[in-house]
Amino acid sequence: MTTTLSVIGVGYLGAVHAAAMAELGHDVIGLDIDAERVAALQAGVPPFHEPGFEQILARGLASGRLRFTTDYAELAHAEVHFLGLGTPQREDGFGADLSHLESAVDALAEVLPARGGAPTLVAGKSTVPAGTARRLADRLAHLDGVHLLWNPEFLREGFAVQDTLDPDRLVYGVHDPEDTAARQAVAMLDAVYARILEREAPRLVMGYEAAELVKVSANAFLATKISFINAVAEMCEVTGADVTDVSRAIGMDDRIGAKFLRAGVGFGGGCLPKDIRAFRASAEEHGVPEALGFLREVDAINDRRRARVVDLAGELLGDLEGRRITVLGAAFKPHSDDTRDSPALDVATRLRAAGAEVTVTDPQALENTRRRLGELVTLERDTDRALAGAELTVLLTEWDEYRDLDPARAAALVAAPRMIDGRNVLDPRQWQGAGWEIRSLGRAP
Ligand code: UGA
Repeated sequence: MTTTLSVIGVGYLGAVHAAAMAELGHDVIGLDIDAERVAALQAGVPPFHEPGFEQILARGLASGRLRFTTDYAELAHAEVHFLGLGTPQREDGFGADLSHLESAVDALAEVLPARGGAPTLVAGKSTVPAGTARRLADRLAHLDGVHLLWNPEFLREGFAVQDTLDPDRLVYGVHDPEDTAARQAVAMLDAVYARILEREAPRLVMGYEAAELVKVSANAFLATKISFINAVAEMCEVTGADVTDVSRAIGMDDRIGAKFLRAGVGFGGGCLPKDIRAFRASAEEHGVPEALGFLREVDAINDRRRARVVDLAGELLGDLEGRRITVLGAAFKPHSDDTRDSPALDVATRLRAAGAEVTVTDPQALENTRRRLGELVTLERDTDRALAGAELTVLLTEWDEYRDLDPARAAALVAAPRMIDGRNVLDPRQWQGAGWEIRSLGRAP
């Protein structure tokens, strides 16, 4: 069954969701207030690097099932509206800025009366503090036939298309799972996701607050897991243990699990850092700051790993003033061009602040790096040219081309074979064998 639906806010999440819904056979209109983004998407040009996205965008546009607009009036007759707006960190503190979401809901409310009371579903996908959905539902309460459901998104950058079309689970938050109107909302979303549900993806219906908490708890747990192993890495550095041995062995316990135990320079990106801060802010607003106080530590451990790379650079080079350092990687993780809160760029900035001449290379993220850092560092797309003349090389994003570097070949390019492996992806013995002085995070020298 084809549903006419809209996706409001076509940033990363929204653009992928819109194209994925067209891929499922629905008639989709994506809306954004950013006219440039809308024009690019309408022309089939992805505003970010995401494997598989360009293809489903092109297919959707060619089929006529997918289009983009800046005009809310064009959304008036859609049966389902997804909210894909960003909830960035508030300028004035740790909490989430919900203003984009609130203005979108208000703008949508203006055009919804055109439905004449026909059942209409508004499905929120953004990551929000518990309590948001209930407040947004109040903003729509005067409209007949309109139901709000919270349907958090768990996609990972780099796997966004796959995660949207083949999710681990679907979570539906409603105002009261027993209520008839809520059941109708659930049925409408089931119809949209019919092809996903056929593949037996688990679908969990719960209250608004639980659905909101599922999303932030999942991200906070992932961040905690990373900081946990990075705290162990600190212990490894002072005791002489190798964190990759510890991580492999504890990960074999099913109750712990091997994933997200890769020690290194820590987490970044547009989600994990801001989400743990917003979660803490939410606990404070609810009067239970102690409940999530440990997330302050999670953040602090993450920050210390970045500082540790700069300390190691000092141990290897002494004074950093005027020294040539090459940073391998700029994206917050491989297979992405996203540099939001990227550990690599944070470290590059800190090295520069300590006086080093920094060259940054990355296969996808140099354009975003230019936007973020301007002239602060030298940008070089070609890895060999980036390595030429380096007195210290620092690997901070584990792209395959850096994992697969040949240490002997690389030694011939640099001015001095010194390496900091910020992601524990190089074999220290092999690199030492080729004449490199190598330091890794979580492994004693
Ligand atoms: C994260 C979550 O994994 C998604 O489930 C969630 O939907 C998304 O946030 C979101 O809220 O939108 P993403 O930001 O794409 O996805 O990135 P992750 O794959 O989670 O990686 C986050 C950071 O952790 C990266 O900087 C990565 O390098 C780092 N990381 C990851 C580690 O340092 N060690 C690990 O073992 C794993």
